[in-house]
Amino acid sequence: MGLHIFRLLCKILVATILFHGSCYSDKDGQYTFMKDAIVAPTYASFDYIVIGGGTSGCALATTLSQNASVLVLERGGSPYDNLTATDLGNVIPSSWSQPFTSKDGVDNQRARVLGGGTVINGGFYTRAGDDYVAEAKWEMEDVESAYEWIEKKLVFKPQVKGWQSAYLKGLLEADVTPYNGFTYEHINGTKIGGTLFDIGGHRHSAADLLKYANPDKIVVYLNATVHKILFTTKGDQKLKAHGVIYKDRDGVFHKAELAENVMNEVILSAGALGSPQLLMLSGVGPRAHLEAHGVNPVVRDHPMVGKGMGDNPMSGVVIPSPLPVEMVPPANVGITKFGSFVEGAALDSLSQTPSIKSNSGLIVEKVDGPVSRGYLELQNTNPDDNPSVKFNYYQEHEDLEKCVIGLETIIKVIDSKAFSKYKYPNATAIELLSLMLSPQTAVSNLTQYCIDTVRTIFHYHGGCQVGRVVDKNYKVFGIDSLRVIDGSTFLKSPGTNPQATVLMLGRYMGQKIIQDRVSFGGK
Ligand SMILES: Cc1cc2nc3c(=O)[nH]c(=O)nc-3n(C[C@H](O)[C@H](O)[C@H](O)COP(=O)(O)OP(=O)(O)OC[C@H]3O[C@@H](n4cnc5c(N)ncnc54)[C@H](O)[C@@H]3O)c2cc1C
Ligand SMILES: *[C@@H]1O[C@H](CO)[C@@H](O)[C@H](O)[C@H]1NC(C)=O
Ligand SMILES: *[C@@H]1O[C@H](CO)[C@@H](O)[C@H](O)[C@H]1NC(C)=O
Ligand SMILES: *[C@@H]1O[C@H](CO)[C@@H](O)[C@H](O)[C@H]1NC(C)=O
Ligand SMILES: *[C@@H]1O[C@H](CO)[C@@H](O)[C@H](O)[C@H]1NC(C)=O
Ligand SMILES: *[C@@H]1O[C@H](CO)[C@@H](O)[C@H](O)[C@H]1NC(C)=O
Ligand SMILES: *[C@@H]1O[C@H](CO)[C@@H](O)[C@H](O)[C@H]1NC(C)=O
Repeated sequence: MGLHIFRLLCKILVATILFHGSCYSDKDGQYTFMKDAIVAPTYASFDYIVIGGGTSGCALATTLSQNASVLVLERGGSPYDNLTATDLGNVIPSSWSQPFTSKDGVDNQRARVLGGGTVINGGFYTRAGDDYVAEAKWEMEDVESAYEWIEKKLVFKPQVKGWQSAYLKGLLEADVTPYNGFTYEHINGTKIGGTLFDIGGHRHSAADLLKYANPDKIVVYLNATVHKILFTTKGDQKLKAHGVIYKDRDGVFHKAELAENVMNEVILSAGALGSPQLLMLSGVGPRAHLEAHGVNPVVRDHPMVGKGMGDNPMSGVVIPSPLPVEMVPPANVGITKFGSFVEGAALDSLSQTPSIKSNSGLIVEKVDGPVSRGYLELQNTNPDDNPSVKFNYYQEHEDLEKCVIGLETIIKVIDSKAFSKYKYPNATAIELLSLMLSPQTAVSNLTQYCIDTVRTIFHYHGGCQVGRVVDKNYKVFGIDSLRVIDGSTFLKSPGTNPQATVLMLGRYMGQKIIQDRVSFGGK
């Protein structure tokens, strides 16, 4: 039952995948520079090697290719292929999503495709708050133009009708005010955010950014799993990354190296699970842990790699509807003044859970931050396998308080006048909440309810955090020519949903790196 509900929540949150798994016209994705790694040479050299063609990786590589040669290595396939079974339940090795279960016992998902999370996610797009940008010590103007660059290419205004509109008005009745209309900004109140789905329901993803890459300067290999970053250790000289080893789907190993230039770099953009995992597999991480797994040599003892893992806990309620609901991805969000965010989506007759009415809405709350933190460790030395990860959901009481306020807000939305036509009159909010418990029991204590129903909304981050593993320029402490640029560097999840800021960071850092290169003397 638990897993069943999880699958249902997944389906609703990323509902449109069911219709638009293969969502591109024939012209899209015909990149001349994108190839299967089986055709890659056994050796090649580049100015930049980007590991992971995901959310930040695609934005970064596109930007770098304007002024330097770039190799992108992505373990997954092409999002432009006609892979019909893109449902997150699909566990075949070439599917776009790799499931994992954290040591907290919560089922989760991890992208494995060019475009990364933006190919399999709910598409909801919203920026980080100004305080977040200030804390990260990013330059506001450059952040603004990087967000705009992404938004012009990938982001759309959603249509808010029927169910979504009733839910939005319900949020306002529940005092999540003011109403801020359609905006990407992170501000208290209720708003309509952006979406990666265009008006025709077609998904756009980070892979589409490659359209703007310089085709003469970029090479993208798919089905290319990086096994190791290579380092040079000459005497007492500082450790330096100089290349990578990757494997194609026939099991053949290839080597790529940095061309001779002090500005050239290996950049890790393998996501919050992939980046700390690959650093460890390359010998950079907590020494005792690496030795216990036989990683040899340990090139640098880096105790904070894999630390600070966080995932925003979520609880949600499914609300059977007497009226038909339109199939819509998340479009509105309520930002309470108390660190709880409330999101909603609806699902029509596709629900396969017999105990739940086929026509249903879903309202979830999630916790800002969170304060509770966990860790990531290797399970083995196979880069295809998931590392083990524990998020320690609700270890800190502060997170629980935010959850309770979120649930109280959901209850008010369900009980609101505006929402009443989308629920059966005989179903109370508390009864609906109890349906999410297994076994189904009466709900008397919302704090306990948060603990009992904790799930993920896939915003996990950390593992290579700024100030711990990388400096404020995203350079790995103690190692030359190596940066990490993706969600693993975050101290907390930005805004209500991270993808906007992960995409932005790829663009923003790409621009910075190019400027540094040019001021150093071009080439
Ligand atoms: C189901 C789901 C729904 C979500 N919904 C939303 C939403 O609605 N709105 C929102 O803002 N956010 C959402 N998110 C979160 C958001 O998509 C992610 O936070 C973001 O995409 C992470 O970006 P990243 O660049 O850090 O990692 P990814 O995008 O995951 O990129 C990492 C890439 O590296 C590749 N890789 C990893 N290891 C290796 C290796 N060894 N060799 C080669 N390649 C490798 C992976 O295959 C992947 O493509 C959702 C996430 C999921 C999973
Ligand atoms: C990647 O490998 C899969 C098989 O695992 C294959 O179906 C797919 O076509 C490959 N992708 C590309 C771009 O060649
Ligand atoms: C990078 O190249 C683009 C054109 O490809 C050019 O417009 C831009 O000025 C270059 N950037 C720098 C910093 O030189
Ligand atoms: C994709 O696959 C489905 C199912 O096999 C098929 O009906 C559809 O025509 C294919 N679409 C394209 C563009 O090839
Ligand atoms: C929201 O309101 C809280 C409490 O009044 C305040 O501390 C916070 O800065 C506000 N946040 C935003 C994003 O406006
Ligand atoms: C509520 O009403 C609906 C439709 O009239 C019915 O199917 C359902 O069983 C009722 N639920 C409860 C809890 O009485
Ligand atoms: C509610 O549950 C929490 C967590 O188990 C517990 O600490 C608290 O005492 C409970 N409150 C009441 C009123 O029972």
